[in-house]
Amino acid sequence: MTQIGIVQERAGEARVAATPATVTTLRALGYRVAVETGAGARSSYPDEAYREAGAEIVDAATAWASGIVLKIDAPTAEEIARLADGATIVALLAPALRPDLLEQLAQRRLTAIALDAVPRISRAQSMDVLSSMANLAGYRAVIEAAHEFGRLFTGQVTAAGQVPPAKVLVAGAGVAGLAAIGAASSLGAIVRATDPRPEVADQVASIGGTYLAVDVEVEKSTDGYAKATSADYDRRAAELYTAQAAEVDIIITTALIPGRPAPRLITAADVARMRPGSVIVDMAAGQGGNVEGSVAGERVVTENGVIILGYTDLASRLASQASQLYGTNVANLVALLTPGKDGRLAPDFDDIVQRSVTVVRDGEITWPPPPVQVAAAPPASAPAATAAAVPPGPTRMPARRRAGLVALGIAALFLVNVFAPPPLPQHLTVLVLSVVIGFYVIGKVHHALHTPLMSVTNAISGVIVVGAMLQLTDPNPVVQALAAVAVLVASINIFGGFAVTRRMLAMFTLEKPAKGAQK
Ligand code: NAI
Repeated sequence: MTQIGIVQERAGEARVAATPATVTTLRALGYRVAVETGAGARSSYPDEAYREAGAEIVDAATAWASGIVLKIDAPTAEEIARLADGATIVALLAPALRPDLLEQLAQRRLTAIALDAVPRISRAQSMDVLSSMANLAGYRAVIEAAHEFGRLFTGQVTAAGQVPPAKVLVAGAGVAGLAAIGAASSLGAIVRATDPRPEVADQVASIGGTYLAVDVEVEKSTDGYAKATSADYDRRAAELYTAQAAEVDIIITTALIPGRPAPRLITAADVARMRPGSVIVDMAAGQGGNVEGSVAGERVVTENGVIILGYTDLASRLASQASQLYGTNVANLVALLTPGKDGRLAPDFDDIVQRSVTVVRDGEITWPPPPVQVAAAPPASAPAATAAAVPPGPTRMPARRRAGLVALGIAALFLVNVFAPPPLPQHLTVLVLSVVIGFYVIGKVHHALHTPLMSVTNAISGVIVVGAMLQLTDPNPVVQALAAVAVLVASINIFGGFAVTRRMLAMFTLEKPAKGAQK
């Protein structure tokens, strides 16, 4: 039975790689768990809670000497020296950016699992720590910005005057960006977002943001991450940022292309255009920064009074939640690597997830893995609106043609009324008016009211059935046939409506617990 060691992170990192809840999962996989004294204290998990979950509380040397060490930040040279021969270390290793680290790990003949190398495929989502952390960090970026901003996010009308809502621009609508858009719009701000992947437009809109498109063709993502943008794209995007900088109060940048330094989006000139008291959160400050003038880990105030936050520990600022999510992702990965649930790692190198995360195996560097090809991107939606443009609506007929058709219809109705024998003119007028009124009334009903609308159409169908049944006795066979068709079609509407309603109600009905099931 292998021992898993949970070690204390260095100063500045409040998270821990396992929580009492995930210790229970690791033990269920057959492992012994040894937690370094105080490892969870900064994320509000006391030693006692780990002990209750079945972990042993040990000193640093014992935790580091475990067969498997779970960690968050990459180990330093001194920490690598503390690892036991043949041990496995699981942490955020940034293999693309730290070839020196892989070399050091290989020299010690270790096995290294990089949690930041989990491929972005649906099967690996439960192990994707980058997404878990970016989600929290995006939220926290908004909270940090709101804390620095000397105004409300939401607009208000008060007795002391009107308060305009804050305007927020989010650059990069990946995991962190979407979390930031959601958090800022739920605080009441007007949120705009841009991203080279047009397929995110619908996601941005669904959480309250407006997608600003840069109308330049970009290479499609095949692995869930963006491709490098073209010079043409960058030029057009720069114009957008310059225009937005003069308008918005808060900018949150999250642009990232994996394995590359962060793209520079906001220039010093853009920052100079912003109003005093505006806030920029450069989430990519740790990778070189999206914003000119941001400093990793620092709060900078520019000459014109713009606050630039380059914090690199945003997820760690939500340490308790972040540790829980990180720990769960790690436990899921350990479960994948322990097929026998017998407390022994048995990685399968033919499995793309296990192959991708293993960056050093028994002293041999196995990075980079073969590329993972997945259609991670949903099909592109209709071209998205730019901020200034009218939102896309259904394709409309040109106004002239529409006016011509209406005039033609009125003329035809007039001719029928003048020349046709009664009672056809009255019946036709009623029919035409019903069609026109029905079209406009039903077309304007909000989506949320479609179910009650269905009830109304059911009632109308009922009236049609009664009327058509009365016509069934008419001696004219044509009338009889039409009446039969009317009964059939209206009945389909009625019974179809009942079937759909029943299905919808079933979706809201709680399943009854099985007899004898625990409450
Ligand atoms: P992601 O890969 O999900 O999203 C990055 C987004 O940037 C993608 O949607 C991509 O299309 C977009 N992008 C790429 N090039 C762009 C460009 N030129 N202009 C505009 N958008 C562009 O990445 P995720 O997980 O959302 O992380 C975002 C950033 O936040 C990363 O730099 C990450 O390291 C950082 N991060 C920072 C934390 C902190 O504490 N500061 C914590 C967690 C993540």
